[in-house]
Amino acid sequence: MYKIAIVGCGWVGQQHADGCRAIKGCKIIGMVDPQMELTKKVAAQFNTAAYGSLDELFKKDKPDIISVCTPPNLHRAIVEEALKKGVRHIISEKPLAHNVVDARAIQKAVKSAKATFMTAFCHRFVEPIMQIKKIIDSGKLGEVVFFRNQFSSRFDGVQQRWFSNPKYSGGGCLIDTSVHSIDLFRYLCGEAKSVSARTASRMAGLKVEDTSCVLLQNSAGSIGVIEASWNVAIGQAYLEVSGTKGKIIYEYWGPFRARFEGDKDWRDIPIKRDINRRFEDEIRNFIGIIEGKKSCGPGVEDGVRANEIIDAAYRSIKMKKWIAL
Ligand SMILES: NC(=O)c1ccc[n+]([C@@H]2O[C@H](COP(=O)([O-])OP(=O)(O)OC[C@H]3O[C@@H](n4cnc5c(N)ncnc54)[C@H](O)[C@@H]3O)[C@@H](O)[C@H]2O)c1
Repeated sequence: MYKIAIVGCGWVGQQHADGCRAIKGCKIIGMVDPQMELTKKVAAQFNTAAYGSLDELFKKDKPDIISVCTPPNLHRAIVEEALKKGVRHIISEKPLAHNVVDARAIQKAVKSAKATFMTAFCHRFVEPIMQIKKIIDSGKLGEVVFFRNQFSSRFDGVQQRWFSNPKYSGGGCLIDTSVHSIDLFRYLCGEAKSVSARTASRMAGLKVEDTSCVLLQNSAGSIGVIEASWNVAIGQAYLEVSGTKGKIIYEYWGPFRARFEGDKDWRDIPIKRDINRRFEDEIRNFIGIIEGKKSCGPGVEDGVRANEIIDAAYRSIKMKKWIAL
């Protein structure tokens, strides 16, 4: 039985708790968050204990796994503290950190403790994405020409949330949202070798970008077009991969279809697992890593690499040019 503690009781902490609850062999021993009213409420919902800090938790119990679900600027301190307290299995939310310095420090601490670590890029565990990965790897799509990925929505009230305070987040929608897409490009198409980006900020009172477009290119020439926005009326979560032999389109919560050379029409691809189970599958996969099973990661190095690409994307905006990675 793996004893897990979840640090941060906000939206994602609750998703992780919900995922853990569905996994046999995993027991939530506590929810940790300084907002005690919220923590008690969430802990009661998941039938576990509420703690205001890791110190309080460790006075009572010792987790095998911690899941870090706080704003990004706190990931480093929490990972380092947990490692010092002897925890050797850590899953930490995206982005790995709010900047490259902290991301590399996390990697160093994890490596020297020989800990098992996952950067929680949950989209790798969306079942249609797993199918897309298999189709690309099988060669059925040919060489990838374009990768297009958009995550957009209207994020009302973002001005009052940590997401738009660069001290906590490291930036706006580019780091917060496109970090997922950057990981997906690397995962599906291979390592990015250059990046260019543009951003816009038109929401009243916002200090960071509300809209971004990142272009990536890998060494084979595949181009990734990555869009994110907090400022659109009609949001979208969309992935399209066009290859020399076919094309796949996945509209999250909508159609999933492919068309290959010679096909007269589009083929619908059956979706075998509910997208809302992605956090459960991510944690299950992490337990598999702990037990030495083959895994798609994503490891600490994937988190660092995404932070490095984001950093270069922000530099490309200032310098108005492509940046080699
Ligand atoms: N994988 C995804 O799809 C996804 C979606 C949303 C957010 N996230 C990521 O998850 C993390 C949290 O985001 P969220 O949306 O849950 O934010 P949130 O604001 O809903 O929750 C964050 C929680 O962290 C708590 N917190 C602050 N300091 C703390 C500390 N020292 N110890 C413990 N808890 C502390 C806050 O009180 C708050 O309850 C971020 O890294 C974010 O980028 C991932």
